[in-house]
Amino acid sequence: MAYNFEFYAPTKVIFGKDAEDQIGKQAKACGASSVMIVYGGGSAKRSGLLEKVEAALGAEDIAFCALGGVIPNPRLDKVYEGIRIGRERRVDFLLAVGGGSAIDTAKAVAYGLAEPEHDVWELFAHTRTAKKCLPVASVLTIAAAGSETSKGCVITNERTGEKRAYDDNLARPRFAVMNPDYTKTLPAHQTASGCVDIMMHTMERYFTNGGNMEITDALAEGLLCTVMKNAVTLCHDPEDYDARAEVMWAGSLAHNDLTGCGNDGGDFMSHKLEHELGGMFDVTHGAGLAAIWPSWARYVYKECLPRFVRYARNVMGIAIEGTDEEIAEAGIQAMEGFYHSIGMPTDLAELGIRPTSRQIREMADRCMAACGGHTGSAKRLTREDMIRIYTDACGSRAAYGLL
Ligand code: NZQ
Ligand code: ZN
Repeated sequence: MAYNFEFYAPTKVIFGKDAEDQIGKQAKACGASSVMIVYGGGSAKRSGLLEKVEAALGAEDIAFCALGGVIPNPRLDKVYEGIRIGRERRVDFLLAVGGGSAIDTAKAVAYGLAEPEHDVWELFAHTRTAKKCLPVASVLTIAAAGSETSKGCVITNERTGEKRAYDDNLARPRFAVMNPDYTKTLPAHQTASGCVDIMMHTMERYFTNGGNMEITDALAEGLLCTVMKNAVTLCHDPEDYDARAEVMWAGSLAHNDLTGCGNDGGDFMSHKLEHELGGMFDVTHGAGLAAIWPSWARYVYKECLPRFVRYARNVMGIAIEGTDEEIAEAGIQAMEGFYHSIGMPTDLAELGIRPTSRQIREMADRCMAACGGHTGSAKRLTREDMIRIYTDACGSRAAYGLL
């Protein structure tokens, strides 16, 4: 049965070739008078995009300052730096140029500037909720996190190693400028990781035991098939504009909540488990998801079997006859084959990490704390379940004394 839902997707999307020409006009229309441009380690400079953004704001007589040097798995210290600069410069609008890391930093700075009397980390520690947030927008350069239209914001506290999400509609960006041409310079690993993240945002909402709608499933399955096809195309031809465009738009639709309408909000345990990997080992988010998903899927599929069978049939094209379990397993194996085909890992060894049993227990404890207790929709996971999934992802329960 379809659950009741609210769908709120206020972000104006300006998509396609030369979309960046509209940045100044859009910022002006939002009432921006003092903009902080937030960007990463240099890709936006090298492509010339940053210069265009500055020129576009200048042409509209909008003052601006910059917060550069945001790194993947963006850090809290950079957010504090942004808040300090933002106060001095009386910033009233945040414009991220980059991907999830730049956008999430911009969102966190926007929260911090809007409520200067509070420490912004309290939001991520879930000890309070935000009442205000400055307006945020983005010029997207990587199809992946979906932060350009999402309510999510993910920041790592480098002092504690905690990577935490705070979700609030207040931070949904006002507009997103998306020119697929600017994603052509992405390294192959980032393109593939981005495709995994996009798929996972859809799959987290697909593998649920709470409410479903045919229209939502059809959108999700179409999105997954489209991303898989174009991810393979981009492995061979990273310059393919249409493939870049398909993946870029899929990234926004995958995480603006469209593919969750009518269900219980999704499972999101692969994400929660991966965030701990990111916090402890600083892995690339999408690759971390690819490395954890097969173990999660094999651990939970029996409790969400109809969804796994449907997925195997409709997304992975599994045509074999057999028991539901066999069909589900074939679907999981086909997914692993797809991940490998685009150069993604399917376990933690392939990801390049080998956590100790102490680190696994620590990640499980932190994940439990971040989730606020047992959580998940395909299967509600306990701390022991989490330990087993991490351990399975390492390849051997026996090696960790779990058999
Ligand atoms: O820093 P620069 O030099 O820009 O390089 C970046 C970075 O090294 C590079 N890059 C981006 N665009 C490029 C480019 N290189 C060449 N050409 C381009 N056009 O790519 C690297 C990764 O960038 P990043 O912004 O970290 O990627 P992504 O968009 O995957 O964001 C990942 C972050 O978003 C969080 C993740 O946890 C992670 O911290 N997420 C945010 C979500 C949200 N806010 O809703 C949801 C997601 O599930 C996710 O958790
Ligand atoms: Zn993600």
